[in-house]
Amino acid sequence: MDGVGGHTEARRRFLRMLVASPLFAGSHFFGRSVTNWLASDATVESNALAVLDMLQQSEDVIASPDQALDVMDFEAAARKALPPAHFGYLATGVDDDGTVRANREGYSHIQIRPRRLVDVEKIDMSVRLFGTSWSSPIVICPVSSQKAFHPDGEIAVARAARAKDHLQILATVANSSIEDVTAARGKPVWQQLYPTNVWEVGRAIVKRAEAAGSPAIVFTVDQQEGANRETLFRAQKADTRECATCHRTSYTGYARGRPGVTSGGFSEYAARHPMFDGLDLSKVTQLRPSPMDWAFVKRLRDTVTVKLLIKGVVTREDAQLAVEHGVDGLMVSNHGGRAEETLRPTIKSLPEVLEGVAGRIPVIVDGGVRRGTDVFKALALGATAVGIGRPQAWGLAAFGQPGVEAVLEMLRRELGTIMRQSGTTSVDKITRDYVVVRPF
Ligand SMILES: Cc1cc2nc3c(=O)[nH]c(=O)nc-3n(C[C@H](O)[C@H](O)[C@H](O)COP(=O)(O)O)c2cc1C
Repeated sequence: MDGVGGHTEARRRFLRMLVASPLFAGSHFFGRSVTNWLASDATVESNALAVLDMLQQSEDVIASPDQALDVMDFEAAARKALPPAHFGYLATGVDDDGTVRANREGYSHIQIRPRRLVDVEKIDMSVRLFGTSWSSPIVICPVSSQKAFHPDGEIAVARAARAKDHLQILATVANSSIEDVTAARGKPVWQQLYPTNVWEVGRAIVKRAEAAGSPAIVFTVDQQEGANRETLFRAQKADTRECATCHRTSYTGYARGRPGVTSGGFSEYAARHPMFDGLDLSKVTQLRPSPMDWAFVKRLRDTVTVKLLIKGVVTREDAQLAVEHGVDGLMVSNHGGRAEETLRPTIKSLPEVLEGVAGRIPVIVDGGVRRGTDVFKALALGATAVGIGRPQAWGLAAFGQPGVEAVLEMLRRELGTIMRQSGTTSVDKITRDYVVVRPF
């Protein structure tokens, strides 16, 4: 029994151990190093499937939200719940997914300096953004096509946001309309904007959001078409289901021209994204037009009557330009490592963006936030609020609305704990004095 069978069993055991470890959960999609390690006797695809198979059989995956000990537990549950291509879409970064990992690891460079003997009986986590108060600084970032994760999609996220009182930012390419999401949220949501290459289409989305009561438009500027989402492409190849039974293989600007990935064209894609309803899309070829520049920001500024934020700024220079162009707020973001492989954590970019802004407008940061202590650190460095992308979708995929609520609750609880431990009774008391930044 010591021969091939014993060897295989040992490999399986090792794999299970890796899969169960948070390190693995927080890092790669299939853990490519693991699949490479198995590459001696199978193809990458079949190895990837074998890993997935084991993940799905893993007894460590939580079966209900209350079993979760941390937010990462929802990632494993989402992985189990979703078809490979959909989980690949959620997990993917670009190239080697190095920026996805960097975002997460960035937080480990920041240490907390807790103060003692402060009365922490009452903790107030609320923040104000553009005159509105939120009971938590944790913002729900725009995540597109959420019905790929759960049939209730953005509506379930909105209900969770309502239950826990969180600010929600709705993606342009959401599977539900802003009117339906606003009704489910019971309060206006912010609208993220991909303007497309046709000005009138982008303008119509802005005007529809304004009419729905949205107090802010969040213009995303960090995505060019053609991003190399290799983990997604691998997952698509590993997925044996017939996608066309639900949708033709999507319009994926980033996937265009990729072997094995066909495009259904923009109109077919738009049909599943109600923010495009009723618009003339005959000339739309890009969600994120390549000629976009600061003149475009000026034009947008002149069009948007509510607050205008830019999402995706990571440098001092662009932060200064944004303020000069009358932008009302910034989101420091690299699209959760899905835009380009910079290997630069957003938490590392935050201080220089804050320098560029010089206190004139609020700054939200997202990317790799998985713990209440991460939120604390970002606030200590000067962020006004902190965004989460994948964690909401993990909760959604695994358990629908209760899963999203549980993710929000867990992060709130962890933030409350570190605020009490550090002797900071409100968000404005979480200052730079409470952290030490080690060299990155
Ligand atoms: C599946 C997925 C879809 C996303 N879709 C959008 C989008 O449509 N618009 C946008 O501005 N950002 C989008 N993002 C980026 C998030 O808003 C956010 O910046 C990022 O996920 C934060 O990093 P995190 O996932 O590590 O928390 C998406 C992220 C994911 C994971």
